[in-house]
Amino acid sequence: MRALKLRPVPMPPTITAGTVDTWPFLLATGIGRYMRILDAIVTKRDGFSLPDDVIRSILSGYTSGEIPDYQMSALLMAIFFRGLNTHELAIWTDAMIHSGQRMDWRELTPRAVDKHSTGGVGDKISLPLAPAVAACGSVVPMVSGRGLGHTGGTLDKLESIPGFNVRLPMERCTEIIHQLGLVLIGQTEQIAPADKKIYALRDASGTVENIQLISSSIMSKKLAEGISGLVLDVKVGSGAFMKTLPDAEQLARTLTGIGNSMGCTTIAHITRMDRPLGKKVGNALEVKETLEVLRGEGPEDVRELVLTLGAEMLVLSKISPDLADGRQKIHTSLANGTALQKFQQLIEAQGGDPHIVDNPQLLPKSAAQTSIVAKRSGIIQSIHTSQLGIACCLLGGGRSKADDIIDPGVGMEITHTIGDSVQQGEELVKIHFTDTSRLAEACQMTTNAFTIGDEPPTPIPLLIGRIV
Ligand code: URA
Repeated sequence: MRALKLRPVPMPPTITAGTVDTWPFLLATGIGRYMRILDAIVTKRDGFSLPDDVIRSILSGYTSGEIPDYQMSALLMAIFFRGLNTHELAIWTDAMIHSGQRMDWRELTPRAVDKHSTGGVGDKISLPLAPAVAACGSVVPMVSGRGLGHTGGTLDKLESIPGFNVRLPMERCTEIIHQLGLVLIGQTEQIAPADKKIYALRDASGTVENIQLISSSIMSKKLAEGISGLVLDVKVGSGAFMKTLPDAEQLARTLTGIGNSMGCTTIAHITRMDRPLGKKVGNALEVKETLEVLRGEGPEDVRELVLTLGAEMLVLSKISPDLADGRQKIHTSLANGTALQKFQQLIEAQGGDPHIVDNPQLLPKSAAQTSIVAKRSGIIQSIHTSQLGIACCLLGGGRSKADDIIDPGVGMEITHTIGDSVQQGEELVKIHFTDTSRLAEACQMTTNAFTIGDEPPTPIPLLIGRIV
């Protein structure tokens, strides 16, 4: 039996039937004694570890509504500062997975695989990647998220396609998977519901940016998908949640550690997010860029990530013997139109208008556009990328509050990026907008996001590292 490392204050007395009612919710410690949630908060606050059964009771009690938000927020803040050790993290993640149902695609051949990005600005990779990988014969049951803070979300991008439904019943998801080898949906009430509740609470309590909480949140959803292999794209830079390489590396190792210890082969790439990915930012604009990539065109960085991450997914699903073969297969699917056709079939299966594929003009558009220009001549040194994401949110392209309605036509076209030479007055960004109420602020923010100097900046590679 594991020794309990509780703080040296009296444990609550063992509760016997009859006294249980006096405490609203009790956590079993696994040794025949009970703790109140308050004792668990204090235990973590003082830097001790929580027993397995206590963690499991906390997560089931919070999911069922027996533990109130104010106590869970306090516990999350204690975890934010004190952390969870490797064992606690594994139990915490496992309990989050078991707060709901686990899909199971193990009977499928080839093995079901997925990809997850920690999020950035202009990161539309899942949209071209998933159909390209499915077009090569793999099975991709992708559960994605909405925009978070300054970052965009796959679901919001998909919903800019008229009619596209990301909330399908499980039976319909299964049908589509059997038909196309691909489905793109949002987290349902059944998939890791503990994370859904905890995530909303973290967002409102300043406890998002913690590597262990981020890792358990991401991995509980991904592992509940019942996949056998997962590729993670851990972003680093001014447009990512992880601003430094050591933090990104730690996140990548924590995520891969959880995945591999739970039977899902997980690898991670650390990739650059010091500038927007591709040339378009904003929901409908990113779908347009997706169509370019699926036609074998599109910006080089987006194509490169689709090829690199797609190759990894094909190896994980055992369709390709090695990465070179995987890369070649993804390249072929983009060049011969099969990836584009898969995307069109998916749009139709999920209730969207498939005509947008041949006629992207059918996608939502903004009412007007305006140019942001260089304040001086020189070479672009850096872009404060999260500021561009926030500027898009101010214009209605993302949410500031959970119930904000997104304007899918809002966004930016990035005309120049880091390392480019520009003349004073030359366009850096074209802003697509409809609502003018915060336009001046968004324009100012976008202008200020660019630093222009005289020397060429040190180049940063797109692919920074690979963690197996
Ligand atoms: N994405 C998630 O799903 N959860 C987090 O905590 C952060 C990013």
